Amino acid sequence: MWSEERGAGLPLDLVVASDRLPLLAAQGVTWQVLVADIDAVAADEHARLAQPAVADKGGDWFAEYRDYKAITTHLEELTALAPGLVSMQAIGNSLENRPLWALKFGGSAPGSTKMMVNGTQHAREWIAAMTTTCVADRLIRGYATDPAIRDFVDHTELWVVPVVNPDGYQYSWSTNRYWRKNKRDNHGVDLNRNFDLAFGGAGSSGLKAAENYRGPSAFSEPESAAIRDLMLREKFALSIDFHAYSQLLLYPWSYSSKPAKDRDKLAAIGDRMASAMYATHQVSYKLISGVELYPASGSLMDWAYGEAGALAYTIELRPKGPGGRAGFVLPPSEIRPTCDEGLAAVLELRRSYR
Ligand code: ARG
Ligand code: ZN
Repeated sequence: MWSEERGAGLPLDLVVASDRLPLLAAQGVTWQVLVADIDAVAADEHARLAQPAVADKGGDWFAEYRDYKAITTHLEELTALAPGLVSMQAIGNSLENRPLWALKFGGSAPGSTKMMVNGTQHAREWIAAMTTTCVADRLIRGYATDPAIRDFVDHTELWVVPVVNPDGYQYSWSTNRYWRKNKRDNHGVDLNRNFDLAFGGAGSSGLKAAENYRGPSAFSEPESAAIRDLMLREKFALSIDFHAYSQLLLYPWSYSSKPAKDRDKLAAIGDRMASAMYATHQVSYKLISGVELYPASGSLMDWAYGEAGALAYTIELRPKGPGGRAGFVLPPSEIRPTCDEGLAAVLELRRSYR
C-alpha cells in the first residue's frame, strides 16, 4: 500500500501482482491501472541515472537525484563554502557502518531556537534526501543576500540530517528501488515504527516481512537510536521529518486519536506552514493529524513530541499520487520546486514559533 492518505471513500494506490487482479474484482473492489509496470519505471530511471551526462548536468546539482556518496560529498562542499556558518558531523553510524551525516547551523544570536530537520528514514523516498540537502544548500547560499534566510540562520540552531537510513537508501539505488526499511538481516526494520512512544501499538507489525515491521524492541536499530541520542542531548523545540509521497502535513498524534495537548497550536502553526508551502508553487499540502490518515505507532514524530518535547511535524512531499510514474519515482525537474516547498515549511515553522 503506497498512498499515505487512507480512509473511507478515498482511492488507494496498491501494488498488486498482475495475476492477483482477478482476486480484487472477486472481492468487489473496483480498480484501474495507474502504473502498468513499476519495475519498468524503476529500470527507466536507473538507465537515465547511468548516463555519464547525469553526473554533472551542467553543474546543476539539484537537476538530478544523487546517491549517498554524492550527497556526502555535497555536504562536505557546502561546509567548506561556509565554515563559519555550518559544521558537519556524524551523529552515529548505520548497521553497515555508514555515517549518519548532520549539518549543524550555528544560531549565533543569544536565545536561538533549536530545530531538527531530517529525511529519508524510508529508503525509497528519494525526494526527502534531496529536499533536506537542498534546504541546507539554500540556507548557506542565501545567507548573504536573503534577509529571511539570514534572520532564520542567525536565530536558529538547526541540525539537518538528510539521510537517516543510508543503508536502505544505497540499496534502493543499487538493487531494489522500492525498498523502505533499513538493512537489518534479510528483512529490515521500519525505523519510523522503532521509536519508544507507543512502541508495538496499532499500525506497526511484529512480522519481519511486513513493510512496517517495528523491530524486536524500541531503538533496536542504530539509526533510530542515533536520532534519539541527538534529540535527548539537544532538546529541540522544533522538528520536521520529511517523507514521500501524497502532499500532506501531519502533526501528532500518529498512534492515538486522543488530541495532542498542543493540538490547537500544532494545527494553527501547521496551517501557516501549509500556506507558505502553497505560496511557492500553488501546490496544496493537506494538514491533518497523523492518526487521521491511519494509526502508526513508534514514529519519530510522536516520540519527538511526546518524549523529547518538540513541536513535531511530518511532511509527505510530492507527488500527490502515482501519476503514471510509480509515486516514489518523481521526475528530477520537481526536485527544485519541492525544495522550495520544504524550505518554506522550515522557515515558517521557525517564524511561527514563539
Ligand atoms: N509515511 C510515514 C510512515 O508510514 C509517516 C506516517 C505518519 N503517521 C501516520 N499516522 N500516518 O511511517
Ligand atoms: Zn516514509
